[in-house]
This record gives sequence, C-alpha cells and structure tokens, in this order.
Amino acid sequence: MEQLPNNLPPDPLPLLDKWITAARDDGTLPNPDAMTLATINNRGIPAARIVLCKQVVTNPGYLVFYTNYESAKGIDIQSGRPVAGVFHWDHMNRQIRFEGIAIRSPANESDAYFASREKESQIGAWASAQSQPIENRQKLKNKHIATTRTLAKLAEESSKREIPRPPFWGGYRIWLSSVELWTRGDARLHDRGRWERPLEPDGDSFSPGNWSAERLQP
Ligand SMILES: Cc1cc2nc3c(=O)[nH]c(=O)nc-3n(C[C@H](O)[C@H](O)[C@H](O)COP(=O)(O)O)c2cc1C
Repeated sequence: MEQLPNNLPPDPLPLLDKWITAARDDGTLPNPDAMTLATINNRGIPAARIVLCKQVVTNPGYLVFYTNYESAKGIDIQSGRPVAGVFHWDHMNRQIRFEGIAIRSPANESDAYFASREKESQIGAWASAQSQPIENRQKLKNKHIATTRTLAKLAEESSKREIPRPPFWGGYRIWLSSVELWTRGDARLHDRGRWERPLEPDGDSFSPGNWSAERLQP
C-alpha cells in the first residue's frame, strides 16, 4: 500500500499537483479533476457541489475553477467566507481535502479560458442564470434559443466572430490554507498528512505564510 513520505515535505502543493496529474493521466475517470466544493451561505448553512479543477498553481498555492459569479456558490464566495473541498479517487485509494479562500481570477485569465471553450459551453454560460429558478424546461430551452440568436446577430454586426465572456462568469482562485492527503493503508492504518499555513490578505490577493505539517491518526 502507498504511504506518504516518512518525513512529510514542507510544502504539500507539489504532491497535491502530482496526485491530480496522476488521476488525469490514469484515464479511468471521465472527470478526474472533479472536486466537491463546499461554501457557506449568509445563514451559516454549508452547501456542497461538484466543480472541475482546471488548474493547480503550486507556487504560491491555489486551485482554479470556473463558474457563474452570480450563482449560489458565487454569492457565498463573494462574502469572503472560507471554502472547503475534497477530491476522491476511489480506485487510486487517494483523497485530498483542502480549505481556503476563493477570490476572482484576473479578468484576462478568465477571458483566455472562456475563449478556449467549445461554442456550446460559451452559449450555455450566457443562457443560464445559474442557480436561479425557472418555471419549466421549455422556458430554459427558449432562453437558450434566444441567446444563441442574439449572439449570432451580434457576431454578424461586429467584425468579431468570437463570443465575449459574460461579465458574470469567470474563474476563482482558491488560495489554500489547509491541505490533507490521505492514502489507504493495510489493516485500516490509513496514512494522513495535514498541512496548514496562514493567509494574510494582501491587496486583491494573499500573502501566504509557511506551511506546517503533521501526521494524523486515521
Ligand atoms: C462532473 C460535474 C462537473 C461540474 N463542473 C462544474 C464547474 O466546473 N463549474 C460549475 O459552475 N458547475 C459545475 N457543475 C455543476 C455544479 O455541480 C452545480 O450544479 C452548479 O455549479 C450550481 O451550483 P450552485 O447553485 O451551488 O452555485 C458540475 C457538475 C458535475 C456533476
């Protein structure tokens, strides 16, 4: 059975990145970079859902995902309350848990990612007021058709063929304050390493302190 290094490395990010890359390279799962992301609403109630981790930036240590800024999760994140998440690759006997604070990615980064997406996804981002109720499925389909037409008309009228990124859609960087790596062990002696670090707000971003590591009982 796999174990974490005897001496836990001072920084967990290279190992976290290695595990996510291994899950992608493994090719078994349709969405190997799916993670459950929990946020807290203004009544203190947690909510969790799956999103896709599109980038790991090992230094200074954040994960990137994309969503609608006006969705339920977007509103929770906007409040500055911390988030938590988990990756689980059952067939690889690995779990990663994390905590952190999410802030919007720079607009140019979101623009570049949006431009790289399939046209269908781009139209979908415009057409859906994510997390808002809608009367029925037909209304949603009609909204999608109307959005497709509007975007096609706009493209005809302007010299630009590309669909612009909606201002309400883009990336978040989850600055990590805690990471736990878990591997299955023989006789239920699973191995758990946990790392924590302080995050000092620094303008639009964070200035992270040093990681401290400890081993946990399973
Ligand atoms: C495999 C999978 C991947 C998903 N990836 C994303 C994603 O990257 N971004 C996103 O906004 N929603 C994604 N979703 C949908 C979310 O789970 C969720 O339904 C949606 O974001 C609305 O969440 P909210 O109302 O809590 O904000 C994904 C769902 C699944 C099952």
